[in-house]
Amino acid sequence: MRTKIAGIGHYVPERVVKNSELTKYMDTTNEWIIERTGIEERRYAEKHKETPSSMGAKAARIAIERAGIQKEDVDFIIFATLSPDYYFPGCGVLMQRELGITNKEAGALDIRNQCSGFVYGLSIADQFIKTGMYKNILLVGAEMHSMGLDFSDEGRGVTVIFGDGAGAVVLQPTEKEGQGILTTCLHADGTHAEELAMINPGSHGGFHLGTEKYGYPDPSVPGGVFVTQKMIDDNLLSPNMSGQLVFKTAIVKFPEVIKEALGNCGLTTQDIDIFVPHQANLRISQFVQKLLRLPDEKVVNNIQKYGNTTAASIPIALSEAWEQGKVKEGDLVCLAAFGSGFTWGSALIKW
Ligand code: COA
Repeated sequence: MRTKIAGIGHYVPERVVKNSELTKYMDTTNEWIIERTGIEERRYAEKHKETPSSMGAKAARIAIERAGIQKEDVDFIIFATLSPDYYFPGCGVLMQRELGITNKEAGALDIRNQCSGFVYGLSIADQFIKTGMYKNILLVGAEMHSMGLDFSDEGRGVTVIFGDGAGAVVLQPTEKEGQGILTTCLHADGTHAEELAMINPGSHGGFHLGTEKYGYPDPSVPGGVFVTQKMIDDNLLSPNMSGQLVFKTAIVKFPEVIKEALGNCGLTTQDIDIFVPHQANLRISQFVQKLLRLPDEKVVNNIQKYGNTTAASIPIALSEAWEQGKVKEGDLVCLAAFGSGFTWGSALIKW
């Protein structure tokens, strides 16, 4: 028994934010952003109205309908995000409530694997389905980056890259010969955990990291301090990224993990019909495409329109490609992701 994607959908907020709008808030240019990242515009959710779980629910409704099931048939939820509605509980239960999936108290699991969250989620779902534990798993990747970005000049290296949105799939068992998830490969290396991260607020208390650097001026405060004035004053409540380290590592790990997946199945890059990379940066995807010698028509890129939507990027890109008729029955679909952690992974799916 294998696992198939029975239904797929995505949702992106209405508000389009072009590069020219960002130039009003920070010292950047349309040319710089396009040249370095390929991004022309991204979407921002409606603040105080939309959230990752509400966007996830919108994508999920489409995936559920396309899978031809009722919401009550969902027996497990996996939600991948790095920008959750709450510190806790996770988005899985919030989306479950919003969707009204209350009949059989389906389990809900949140995973925090950033850009590779969807690939990790797919692998988890695959194991549950193959063991026969669940029959309809709803896997969602959703992000609302716009809420946590730094719109000052200091944040420009990170802020211009990220956008909001959600993607969802329904996973089911299949016994059809050759169909379904053929393999998934998951990897992580925490050596550079802080090089692409949002460290505050958190429970680290400066431990590992140097109290001063991360805004903990007084380690003697009883019970610790979650958010300090110094964090606010020193602008330490937004993500940071060592862009060049991320770039250099990503262009090694992407091809490595794709070749590992192909090797597991006795396949080669020529067998790939459609490659959906995590939309990290157009230059990273183009580099990987060239290395794998894949023609343009086999590679899905939509970062130009949506920016990097982290855990949502693969399901949004796959859903769009499917809607455009680019993913057909029998196609070998290759997914690959790399991101914060660092974590990375790949999946091969016979559609
Ligand atoms: N607009 C204008 N200038 C900017 C800018 C912006 N938005 N962001 C940074 N700069 C400036 C820097 O301050 C620096 O100026 P300086 O030379 O005067 O110091 C200059 O541009 C070059 O910065 P650098 O960080 O070396 O640029 P880069 O060529 O490495 O490009 C990234 C930056 C982030 C686009 C690039 O490193 C990258 O794509 N990394 C991978 C990021 C990624 O994929 N992240 C998601 C992972 S899942």
